[in-house]
Amino acid sequence: MMMFLFLHSLRTFESTLRVLTSSALILSFLFSERPAASATGMTSDTDDLPALLSIKAHLHPPASLSSWDSHNSSTAFCQWPGVTCGNSQNPGRVTSLDLANLGLTGSISPDIGNLTFLRSLNLSLNSLQGQLPPELGRLSHLESLLLSRNALEGRIPGTLANCSSLWRISLGSNRLAGEIPAALGALPKLQILSLHYNDIGGRIPASLGNLSSMTHIDLVGNRVTGTIPPSLGRLQSLVHISVTGNSLTGAIPANIFNMSSLCYLYVGYNQLSGTLPPDMGNTLVNLEVLQAFGNTLEGPLPISLPNASRLTEIVLPYNRLSGPLPRDIGRLRYLSSLSLRDNRLEAKKAEDWEFLASLANCSNLRTLDLGYNKLEGTLPAAIANLSTQLKWLGLGGNEIHGSIPAGIGSFTHLHRLYLDQMALAGDIPAAIGKLQNLHILSLNGNRLSGVLPSTVGNLTQLERLYLNDNSLQGEIPKSFHNLQRLTVCDLSFNELEGSIPKELAELSSLTRYLNLSHNLLTGPLPSEFGSLKNLQVLDISDNRLSGEIPSTLGECQVLQYLYLQRNHLQGTIPDSLSSLGGIQVLDLSCNYLSGPIPLTFERLQHMKFLNLSLNDLQGQVPDQGGFKNANLYSVAGNDKLCGGIQELHLQPCSRLVPGNKCGSPAVRSPISFVFIVSLLVLSLGKASYLVRKQRTRIYMPAGPSKRQTSILEVRPGGRSM
Ligand SMILES: *[C@@H]1O[C@H](CO)[C@@H](O)[C@H](O)[C@H]1NC(C)=O
Ligand SMILES: *[C@@H]1O[C@H](CO)[C@@H](O)[C@H](O)[C@H]1NC(C)=O
Ligand SMILES: *[C@@H]1O[C@H](CO)[C@@H](O)[C@H](O)[C@H]1NC(C)=O
Ligand SMILES: *[C@@H]1O[C@H](CO)[C@@H](O)[C@H](O)[C@H]1NC(C)=O
Ligand SMILES: *[C@@H]1O[C@H](CO)[C@@H](O)[C@H](O)[C@H]1NC(C)=O
Ligand SMILES: *[C@@H]1O[C@H](CO)[C@@H](O)[C@H](O)[C@H]1NC(C)=O
Ligand SMILES: *[C@@H]1O[C@H](CO)[C@@H](O)[C@H](O)[C@H]1NC(C)=O
Ligand SMILES: *[C@@H]1O[C@H](CO)[C@@H](O)[C@H](O)[C@H]1NC(C)=O
Ligand SMILES: *[C@@H]1O[C@H](CO)[C@@H](O)[C@H](O)[C@H]1NC(C)=O
Ligand SMILES: *[C@@H]1O[C@H](CO)[C@@H](O)[C@H](O)[C@H]1NC(C)=O
Ligand SMILES: *[C@@H]1O[C@H](CO)[C@@H](O)[C@H](O)[C@H]1NC(C)=O
Repeated sequence: MMMFLFLHSLRTFESTLRVLTSSALILSFLFSERPAASATGMTSDTDDLPALLSIKAHLHPPASLSSWDSHNSSTAFCQWPGVTCGNSQNPGRVTSLDLANLGLTGSISPDIGNLTFLRSLNLSLNSLQGQLPPELGRLSHLESLLLSRNALEGRIPGTLANCSSLWRISLGSNRLAGEIPAALGALPKLQILSLHYNDIGGRIPASLGNLSSMTHIDLVGNRVTGTIPPSLGRLQSLVHISVTGNSLTGAIPANIFNMSSLCYLYVGYNQLSGTLPPDMGNTLVNLEVLQAFGNTLEGPLPISLPNASRLTEIVLPYNRLSGPLPRDIGRLRYLSSLSLRDNRLEAKKAEDWEFLASLANCSNLRTLDLGYNKLEGTLPAAIANLSTQLKWLGLGGNEIHGSIPAGIGSFTHLHRLYLDQMALAGDIPAAIGKLQNLHILSLNGNRLSGVLPSTVGNLTQLERLYLNDNSLQGEIPKSFHNLQRLTVCDLSFNELEGSIPKELAELSSLTRYLNLSHNLLTGPLPSEFGSLKNLQVLDISDNRLSGEIPSTLGECQVLQYLYLQRNHLQGTIPDSLSSLGGIQVLDLSCNYLSGPIPLTFERLQHMKFLNLSLNDLQGQVPDQGGFKNANLYSVAGNDKLCGGIQELHLQPCSRLVPGNKCGSPAVRSPISFVFIVSLLVLSLGKASYLVRKQRTRIYMPAGPSKRQTSILEVRPGGRSM
């Protein structure tokens, strides 16, 4: 899934590029009206005219090449747009064909193999289909083959190995399959091999290690398997290896870490294992980017890493790296990203934390993500000395205690702050409100107490707020009104009191969920909740809310889950709730609701569970629609209900009505008495939910904290076209 997202975002990026680079000039030339000479009367007294006409005939729409018609002289085609011919030695022979970015469809004519003087072919950024013609192998002068960003399919023809002048092959973003032909290892001049975002499988041929001129190899986003061949380590000019997002296994060959030429190593999202050699910082002296996220690398971070002084990005999250971080990592002057989330890195002693103080020297640091490791101790004061340019700070999921320093307010560029799932105590400092660029604030799963500061309302860019599972007190500040971009808000499992401010209930930006459950909130449900027109989940269960359910709740048109159980709600269930067309779970149990079950609930088609139990509802239980299936709802513990389907074993309504005056139906039959007592025992059992950390979550999967997001933001390997 993550892989998909990250591929998808790149493709979006590409298509944007496609639009931006549209060569409007050539297009207008091509489309310009000219007297079109009849194609039948042509004379073929040069080699290349028939091939060009064949190429044209394979392309669509023909209009885009309408000016490829005049042949008033034998070499007139040399003036055709996109065509370049040779100099005086080879007049009338096509040496370059550039039809990039013209919106062409169709296929590549096999007759292209007749343009034997062709040196450069650029058909990139079109929508060409079909296979690469094997006849390309006849182009022995071809230096540059640029076909990226089309819809080409089939295999890469092995005949390309005959194009002995090739230095650049660029076939990225097509639908090519098959394997990389081992024969390509015979191209003596090849420098750039770019095959990203195709469907290419098989292994990386060891023969590529013969390409001594090779500088770039880019296989990002394919299905390549097997190991990285050690022969690649022989390539003394290699600058750039990108194999992110394949199925490579085994260890990264030791001699890859010996390549002094290497600047960019992108090997993320594979199944690579093994360790990073301790001296790699001394051997990869030119390394700028090390990206190997989402593998199973283990062992310590190389102690020599700070010697690789050009490093800007160390991106190794989601591996099994262990041990402490190099203490002098801050010697990496240009470091902008240090992302080590979800490893087993340790800090046990004070010295193990020295790396943090040294990072103060990295003035370009933008991302520091050390979340979900085994760092222990108090949050070091040195954190306040990190670059104020920091955009992403992640320390969550470690065993860090202490309080959040007020100095946090100086990181005014922060977009994301993850300090979740630790043992932080004390207040949330009011200075948090200075983080005016914050998009995500994650402080959940700590022991934070005190009042929720109203300055949170100053975080006007905030999109996701996780403060759940703490001991926050006081009221929900009215300043929440300013959080106009908030899509997720989780304040559950705290000790918040007072009533729900209408300012919160009005935030129509809320889409994913609003969770206020397990607090001490009182007062009525604000009728403003009807403004939450885009909200999918609303959970206000386990509070002390009273009053009636506002009928405006029916206006939350996309609501799928509504939890109001275990409150003190009274009155009748508003009919309007049946306009919640997408509702899947509606839990109103354990309240003091009275009156009838709205008959209109029968038409709630997507209902997976309707819980009305333990209220004071009366009258007839509907028996149509969803009510035909007893597994989809519970009405237990409402002793004034009657009718419904057989399985409910309720009294028929006709008998109940006259019996009403003769005492409570609950004691009428010993069976139902026992039943209700056991229900009460059950619900008492449920109250022990309040004993925190031990509770079960009955409705949705785990909270937001564990694998939150960071990997999506990891940039993949750069690449060449
Ligand atoms: C291209 O060359 C092949 C082989 O020489 C020949 O059979 C074919 O007719 C040529 N195509 C055109 C369009 O001239
Ligand atoms: C032939 O056609 C080209 C393109 O239309 C034009 O530039 C050129 O002047 C013409 N040459 C002759 C000899 O008519
Ligand atoms: C090929 O075409 C693309 C798109 O127009 C252009 O960006 C690129 O520079 C061209 N490459 C060469 C080598 O001409
Ligand atoms: C490639 O070269 C080999 C030997 O040099 C030759 O046998 C083969 O026909 C060539 N293939 C093409 C497609 O030109
Ligand atoms: C090319 O590489 C392969 C595998 O690494 C090797 O067996 C072969 O001898 C090499 N060929 C040349 C011409 O170097
Ligand atoms: C790395 O290079 C050094 C010196 O050139 C050499 O001694 C060593 O064997 C190489 N290591 C590997 C794994 O290739
Ligand atoms: C870092 O480089 C220096 C100078 O080349 C060297 O003396 C030192 O041993 C290296 N550090 C490590 C940990 O390899
Ligand atoms: C930062 O760099 C300076 C100069 O290189 C050095 O003296 C200082 O110790 C470094 N600070 C830290 C915290 O590493
Ligand atoms: C932060 O930096 C200042 C100035 O360089 C220094 O005096 C102070 O000791 C540093 N604080 C920590 C905790 O490293
Ligand atoms: C921040 O919030 C407080 C309290 O809500 C408010 O008084 C103050 O003016 C706000 N500051 C800024 C810069 O918006
Ligand atoms: C709050 O509710 C949402 C939506 O049901 C859920 O995803 C989230 O895990 C809940 N929070 C806690 C702390 O249970």
